[in-house]
Amino acid sequence: MAAALAAAFAFPAACQTPPLDFEFFRTRVQPVFLLKRPGHARCYVCHSTGTTFRIERLSPGAASWNDEQSRRNFDSVLRLVVPGDPLASRLLTHPLAPEAGGDPFHSGGKHWDSQLDPEWQTLAAWVRGRKP
Ligand code: HEC
Repeated sequence: MAAALAAAFAFPAACQTPPLDFEFFRTRVQPVFLLKRPGHARCYVCHSTGTTFRIERLSPGAASWNDEQSRRNFDSVLRLVVPGDPLASRLLTHPLAPEAGGDPFHSGGKHWDSQLDPEWQTLAAWVRGRKP
């Protein structure tokens, strides 16, 4: 009995909500914000210029963000995700088509038709706590 209790308490609730990994964010999630999709502006174009979801401006000539900028992007995105739950995370539901489980409206358009979209899957893996 004592052993069973000890085992139960050895896995605190925190295990079910894995911490979000910064390296995975930096190397796998951020590039999604820079990708050009047919018929859409890039996330970066709108979200580096004054929307509530704020991505850092790239330094002149840079193709990606430095560590400090990536940290700020990470902090900005944290309030738009629920660790462990992609479908409760606005970062994933806002640009996802409503018929695929997304929000009804995103003024930036619907960038993903399906949860099977590889970009969506990358974001979902990060929210579920994947490490590089
Ligand atoms: C054409 C401009 C534009 C593009 C491109 C765009 N967005 Fe947006 N996005 C907006 C605007 C404007 C809002 C605020 C109004 C709204 O919620 O629709 C917004 C809202 C959001 C929100 C909700 C923010 C909050 O604080 O509630 C998220 C998350 C988001 N966008 C993610 C993305 C992602 C991820 C991409 C790329 C896949 C993207 N957006 C592309 C313009 C854009």
